[in-house]
Amino acid sequence: MGSTVKGAAARPLRVGVVGVGVISQQYFEHFPALPGLELTAVADIDVARAQSVGETQGVRGSSVDDLLAADDVDVVLNLTIPAAHAEIATRALEAGKHVYGEKPLAMSTAEAQPVLDLARRSGLRVGSAPDTVLGTGIQTARAALDDGLIGTPVGAAVSWSAPGHELWHPAPAFYYQPGGGPLLDMGPYYLTSLVQFFGPVVRVSGASTRSDRERSIATGPAAGTPLRVDIDTHVLAVLEHADGVVSTVTVSFEVWATRAPLFEVYGTSGTLGVPDPNRFSDPVSIATADDREWRELPVTAGYADAGRGYGLADMAHAVATDRPHRASGDLAFHVLEVMEAVATAAREHTVVEVRSHVDRPETVPAGATPGSW
Ligand SMILES: NC(=O)c1ccc[n+]([C@@H]2O[C@H](COP(=O)([O-])OP(=O)(O)OC[C@H]3O[C@@H](n4cnc5c(N)ncnc54)[C@H](O)[C@@H]3O)[C@@H](O)[C@H]2O)c1
Repeated sequence: MGSTVKGAAARPLRVGVVGVGVISQQYFEHFPALPGLELTAVADIDVARAQSVGETQGVRGSSVDDLLAADDVDVVLNLTIPAAHAEIATRALEAGKHVYGEKPLAMSTAEAQPVLDLARRSGLRVGSAPDTVLGTGIQTARAALDDGLIGTPVGAAVSWSAPGHELWHPAPAFYYQPGGGPLLDMGPYYLTSLVQFFGPVVRVSGASTRSDRERSIATGPAAGTPLRVDIDTHVLAVLEHADGVVSTVTVSFEVWATRAPLFEVYGTSGTLGVPDPNRFSDPVSIATADDREWRELPVTAGYADAGRGYGLADMAHAVATDRPHRASGDLAFHVLEVMEAVATAAREHTVVEVRSHVDRPETVPAGATPGSW
């Protein structure tokens, strides 16, 4: 791909951010390092907040309507809460703009499918977080698996848990409403990694529950406000991948302390210690049948020193060079369908087939930047 790059000198994709809350700060930090992108505007349902953030970033801050009508926005970076993801994406596409959004893609596949259909009809792109999986951590782990460093993968185990995001997030209500919960909030990091490793999931089962613990906001101006919990907060899933690998996934907002490993892959000749997929560049570790001693693997793939926004930069380069982008709406849709299937399996005490199929995205070769590959 690198040698056939055309449009490397194409004008940057002009970005308008919708939703300037907590996570937007991480994107703003990385903009200066992101090739092919130019921030031109920000908007929020809270226009005063948009204006204040716009001032800090040196760009226009406005209402969502004004941003969507603007001529100097080619792509909408949708950083709103999950309940608004599909609506903002639809409006951006209707305004003739590409869209890249935070996870999850939407609250349900029923909400997400029309977004992907509209994009296809309009010749526009839909991209979605997580792009953490394009960093050196998950990409090096994927390369190690593809190179057979632990033999043939047999199974994977994920165990992510925390007491609850209300301990640190100033506006955490959305984490306890449909579209949130540990499954839709943290699931995308782990499931996207598992699809990067093993390809699509074909079948799932699951179980879930919630405690009656009273939760309240612990930090910020709304500290002390009680939180209503309308989703299950402790979720277990069993996934069968098309290639025969089976994974167990635990995600929970109910755990005060744990000694469970975060993420491991078991192969016929070793175990891979997979780094946190909510981060970009933590080291990968391996222990093989030969000595069963843990050691770190050197970095062999992934965007170095990456941060949130690299998936959007990859999409900008993909638009300029007419290639598929890696953090794609199709991948996020598959992951959303898997999560929905887990919730259905848990609710109905059954096994659920997953209908969507997605190919593994291209690896990110070592030394690549989102502006070159
Ligand atoms: N906070 C994190 O650490 C984190 C990390 C990774 C991903 N995310 C994801 O990023 C997204 C946003 O999370 P956050 O923590 O920044 O939330 P937040 O509540 O801090 O910010 C969301 C912003 O969107 C605005 N908004 C809500 N509905 C809107 C609408 N309909 N139109 C325009 N603006 C609207 C809100 O006013 C707010 O400013 C979520 O999907 C979340 O899962 C968050």
